[in-house]
Amino acid sequence: MFALHIALQGCLRGSDVQYGINADTGGHIRYLLGMVEASERIAKLERIVIATRAFDSKHGSEYAAPRERVSSKTEIVRFATPNPDYLTKEELWSEVPAYAESLIEWIGAQPAPPDIIHAHYADAGVVAGIVRERLGIPYTFVAHSLGRVKMDAFRDNAGSENPDSMESLERRIDIEERAIRGAALIVASSRDEAEFQYSQYKNYDPGRIRIVPPGAELAAFRGAPPRLQVDRLINRFLTHPEKPALIAIARPVAKKNLAMLVKAYGESPQLQEMANLILIAGNRSDISDLEPEISNSLSEILRLIDLYDLYGKIAYPKVHLPSDVPAIYGYAQYRRGIFINPALNEPFGLTLLEAAAVGIPIIATDSGGPNDIVEICRNGELVDPSSPDDIAQAAIRILADPALWDSYAAAGARAVKRFDWRSHAKRYLRLAEAVTGSEGIGVRQPRELLVSDIDNTLLGSRDALTEFSEWLAGEPEMAFAIASGRSFHSAMSVLEQEDAPLPDIMITSVGSEIYYRAENGPEYRADPEWAEWIAEGWDRAGILAALQELPGIRPQSPLEQRRFKLSYLSPANPDAAATIAERLIAAGLQATVMGSHARYIDILPPRASKGTAVEFVRKRLGLVTRQVYVAGDSGNDVEMLRLLPNAIVVGNFCDQLRSRPELDHCHFAPRRYARGILDGVAYFRGTQDGQALSVA
Ligand code: GLC
Ligand code: MG
Repeated sequence: MFALHIALQGCLRGSDVQYGINADTGGHIRYLLGMVEASERIAKLERIVIATRAFDSKHGSEYAAPRERVSSKTEIVRFATPNPDYLTKEELWSEVPAYAESLIEWIGAQPAPPDIIHAHYADAGVVAGIVRERLGIPYTFVAHSLGRVKMDAFRDNAGSENPDSMESLERRIDIEERAIRGAALIVASSRDEAEFQYSQYKNYDPGRIRIVPPGAELAAFRGAPPRLQVDRLINRFLTHPEKPALIAIARPVAKKNLAMLVKAYGESPQLQEMANLILIAGNRSDISDLEPEISNSLSEILRLIDLYDLYGKIAYPKVHLPSDVPAIYGYAQYRRGIFINPALNEPFGLTLLEAAAVGIPIIATDSGGPNDIVEICRNGELVDPSSPDDIAQAAIRILADPALWDSYAAAGARAVKRFDWRSHAKRYLRLAEAVTGSEGIGVRQPRELLVSDIDNTLLGSRDALTEFSEWLAGEPEMAFAIASGRSFHSAMSVLEQEDAPLPDIMITSVGSEIYYRAENGPEYRADPEWAEWIAEGWDRAGILAALQELPGIRPQSPLEQRRFKLSYLSPANPDAAATIAERLIAAGLQATVMGSHARYIDILPPRASKGTAVEFVRKRLGLVTRQVYVAGDSGNDVEMLRLLPNAIVVGNFCDQLRSRPELDHCHFAPRRYARGILDGVAYFRGTQDGQALSVA
């Protein structure tokens, strides 16, 4: 395979990149080179070329060199455009057409054209789009950062708005729309990016986005020890420096929400007794000289420290060096502390991985990237960043339970392994192969359909999953579907993470969304008719309003709220689902309300459930009910188990499924997790008298 990367911004070279030399020589180059270096070790990938733009630069003649060999597999090629100068990302658009022509000419002169193009940043996406139109080479796209997100940040900080940058942001968003529209597949770093950030674009198409976590450079953090100098920096604030440390490291901008953390700490005498609080909030000389946003939030923090009289318990050093950071985590590790990120929204959350690598538990906002990190690493807890009590309770729980602390701390090793460029490169390559059509032909007209829930049914035991995957590979006429409470991207990323078979059909968000895999590619298409059908009778805003003040429940994180799904948590409130249902009826609102695992509550349109979704898919595929198997373990599976005759409940079920009369026809499998699914299929195949389908 021959992969061509296009990256036009900044001062790109094969080694000793001068990061920060200008605004565009930053993270995206590190990402690109990290990924390329890891890709070189993949045998199937025979040739890698990075195409960038040539320009004259006071920084060196190498940026004008037409070719630069990076390694035996990899080279950088540079094409000049009419403007010979270095151009910022805001200015690059004018050179795109000329650049695309040079690239097309170069491709024509190669012994073989690239199999896949990977475009980095929007301008490169447009170049790739032109190449695709002319030469038919598919491209994948990684945005690195999105104009719409910047635009929002801009609007939030009214006042700092200037018409020039507004105009260039609008241009950038248009360019991004083009890049998104033509991409065979979009690579996102987190669920926040895949589900929230991209959803603000006209050409948003969730089925063409995949989350592939980037590598993180964690070597310096792995088991980092404390350092005397850093200890001094912190300890001079503290009366009892030996206590566990709760640390936060973030620039003190409003969205990082550090004041809320001070509030959480200030309002909990128990937490103050158990631990100190350390805020590493940037560097400062005179607070009044800082940008207004930063000086305001620092002033608020100082006010709260005084209000709650936290002297001697909280440290907020004035300056620290970048090289001190590993030892700051080390300080907390040594004292069995916790890293806390209370941001209102955290798009990715690199600091959480750093903390994991050092070996300390984390408490993080439930909004954005931390969702993925906690799910993959199991290194801590998610909290509602607007609830000081939630933050304090999580900290108390972890500090009071040494075994829990140990298990979260030990999970760091997992972080280091998963957020690694090698696994990124491998997963990317698998997707690229599928894009280029060499893999993944979908089932055309299946004879049977197997629909499985994900958590605690398909997943839960690695060995059982392996056995299941081997069995499924031998069933070419069986369409495979999942039906999950998770969103499309949450489901997809856990399936990829666990190496589960790629489903032909994905029923997600508890049946409120249905996606089909394209016949010869990795992308999925949403079912628009399903959306239209379940929209009937759904008053999302009305339901939100009716439940606003209901005690005993709180909304799940923003990522779990979908167009057709509202989800809550109801810790220690077994009657929550019934109470909600009553309240909605009283308000004249229709909905399907269901509880699972004694803590999740989902509210869906009256017509939506995993059951009605399976029925919809069954009819689309032209199958009769006995050709369909459904498997599940918990409350949100009841609707599909109830509606279909070949219903399997795996051995590790919960939510008292066995005592529900509507599930009397189910096969309660003797074995657990995915092995239970195999038991059930064999059972139903063996007992269908007259029309028994053979057991594989
Ligand atoms: C998954 C979803 C969550 C839902 C639960 C039960 O965990 O992420 O939103 O409430 O399933 O359906
Ligand atoms: Mg389940």
